[in-house]
Amino acid sequence: MTRGVAIVTGAGRGVGRATAERLARDGYVVVTGVRDLDRAREEYGKQPGIQLVQLDVTNQTHIDDAVALAEDFAGGPIDVLVNNAGHAMMGAQENGSLDAARAMFETNLWGAAAMVQAVVPAMREAGRGTVVTVSSIGARLTNPLIGFYHGSKYALSAFSEALAAEVGHFGVRVIMIEPGMINTDFPKATVLGDDITNPQSPYAPLFADLRAGFGAWRERDDASTAESCAAVIGDAIAMDHPPMRIVVGDDAVELDGYIKGSKDDEEFQGHLREFLGLDWPPVPPRA
Ligand SMILES: NC(=O)c1ccc[n+]([C@@H]2O[C@H](COP(=O)([O-])OP(=O)(O)OC[C@H]3O[C@@H](n4cnc5c(N)ncnc54)[C@H](OP(=O)(O)O)[C@@H]3O)[C@@H](O)[C@H]2O)c1
Repeated sequence: MTRGVAIVTGAGRGVGRATAERLARDGYVVVTGVRDLDRAREEYGKQPGIQLVQLDVTNQTHIDDAVALAEDFAGGPIDVLVNNAGHAMMGAQENGSLDAARAMFETNLWGAAAMVQAVVPAMREAGRGTVVTVSSIGARLTNPLIGFYHGSKYALSAFSEALAAEVGHFGVRVIMIEPGMINTDFPKATVLGDDITNPQSPYAPLFADLRAGFGAWRERDDASTAESCAAVIGDAIAMDHPPMRIVVGDDAVELDGYIKGSKDDEEFQGHLREFLGLDWPPVPPRA
């Protein structure tokens, strides 16, 4: 007897893989979306409940095929969608590659939206289902040189909040996950623009500062792991009444405190700069 059918995107590694494995252990049949099927077959081996499919969320045919397969397993609408696929890019706002930014939005925002549009109509008609959005605490704060990524996560969270308000009434639950740092291969997959890596760039000192700040953050003992984040996702799906937004990790809780507790932008920016140890001069106070 299965708990139902779930689809997880971006499950080749990291949070997606840990979530697929957690849901499979919980008794779901998990349509496990990966971009590289051969690599995934080798790395996953044979695990009960895991059904690997090729799923690049920028490819509508992959999406349609994966959802059709999942609905076949379910004999109707699926139970759970975990929109997890994502990557970051770093670049200055003034000259970061717009092509790289557009490609990132294709995955982080439009891929997630296309997955929602593929599964939610049937969930709504059935009056049940859960959509999990793996967003970020960075959907509610911004760091310099990462503005395009933050923009994609802000947009993803706006999409998800509106979705929650639209479909909650029909019995479809939307859960937004907002982790801080998760120790995965995410930094390796981050696209870095020449505009900031070139030592001649006016932003090179800021880039060096940020790298050091993120390096130190990753060393903090309150950073999450793929498994701890997947545990939060699995536990939330299992709840009768999950909260709409779940902040994951003590680091993210600390940042959430600054978002909610700062009296103005200046104080908030001060907390962020201190959190990352940025030496870059702050925005001058305005009259
Ligand atoms: N790591 C962090 O600190 C952190 C913090 C907050 C939020 N997040 C969010 O958590 C999610 C998972 O990140 P992670 O830390 O597990 O990173 P990760 O280890 O880099 O894993 C990302 C996964 O997404 C897949 N992916 C990328 N583009 C895709 C596309 N177009 N279609 C389908 N899959 C795609 C990758 O596929 P391949 O395996 O084929 O490369 C990879 O399996 C992301 O949405 C990220 O924004 C991460």
